Amino acid sequence: MAATGVPVSTAQIYRGFARQEARGRSPAYEALAEGVAGDRRILRFLDSLPPEKRQPNLLFAAARYLLGVPADLAALRALVRPSSRQLAEVMLARRTQTNEPARCALLLPALAQLPQPLALIEVGASAGLTLLVDRYSYDYAGHQIAGLDPQAPTLRCTPEGPVPLPERPPEIAWRAGLDLNPLSVASDDDVRWLTCLVWPGEGDRQQRLAEAIAAARRDPPALYRGDLIDDLPALAAQAPAGATLVVYHSAVLAYVAPERRRVFAGLVRGLGATWLSNEGPKVLADVPVEAFTGDPFLLVRDGRTPLAIADGHGAWLRWIG
Ligand SMILES: C[S@@+](CC[C@H](N)C(=O)[O-])C[C@H]1O[C@@H](n2cnc3c(N)ncnc32)[C@H](O)[C@@H]1O
Repeated sequence: MAATGVPVSTAQIYRGFARQEARGRSPAYEALAEGVAGDRRILRFLDSLPPEKRQPNLLFAAARYLLGVPADLAALRALVRPSSRQLAEVMLARRTQTNEPARCALLLPALAQLPQPLALIEVGASAGLTLLVDRYSYDYAGHQIAGLDPQAPTLRCTPEGPVPLPERPPEIAWRAGLDLNPLSVASDDDVRWLTCLVWPGEGDRQQRLAEAIAAARRDPPALYRGDLIDDLPALAAQAPAGATLVVYHSAVLAYVAPERRRVFAGLVRGLGATWLSNEGPKVLADVPVEAFTGDPFLLVRDGRTPLAIADGHGAWLRWIG
């Protein structure tokens, strides 16, 4: 639905993706999404799927999974032949679970301000790459922080405003991830899917992902299958006493219905945890959206206090908190 309550067509979704998301990031996917928006056969195929399975990210990653390379329009048209169910099968079986390690550079300053050590729970953790905050190294335009795993990637992030940059990574006493469908870095098939979710033309993302996966394989974080509301209390009960419990999420709440987001907010507050949210500006009910319209991500503490505006993939962080 659009803000006016008028249903949004699949063609409009693809046109919006091309112009608002892919433009400036991935010329190949901008062109592909525009192509899909004007292609009756592909739109018919998409409209035969459940609404949540029609997303551009899912279609393009599934096509890449089958083709081995990013699709162009002709290749995509060939995949949606009525005789072939392969594409639909991948889209129905898989979800968009893009795991972007560079988002750790957005979380790090807020985590470092808390009493240490920390007990981390990430809800919507995907493969757990955004749980390894202390393993990566960081370069904030020359301010360098050495991580605990010297082979893990260095995450580069441009700080703007008075970002409280620490000298060292936070001390993590315990960490766990919760996801409806945790991906395993030990599974070649899951790794292939994670790789297919990265858009073509996005610089070093693919390389960073491969290095982060290698770091996670050396010492995988604990990941649990479960829902961020139903299964969070039992996981939080496992956190050690004496560490600051932090519940956080990044690029997750857009997949959760608005009424469930409100239930989640009440639940996290009831746990007495510090809550960090790194999401698009519209998903938290208690944050004044108007002030942040057009900003990609907003880092919010405890559901109410905006700390920073952030690039969706961790490239820059503008501190306001
Ligand atoms: C786009 S990925 C983001 C992964 C990671 N947080 C990051 O920033 O790189 C969203 C993840 O949220 C998970 N997810 C969506 N709804 C969920 C729910 N209700 N409970 C738990 N996980 C959920 C999905 O399975 C997916 O792995």
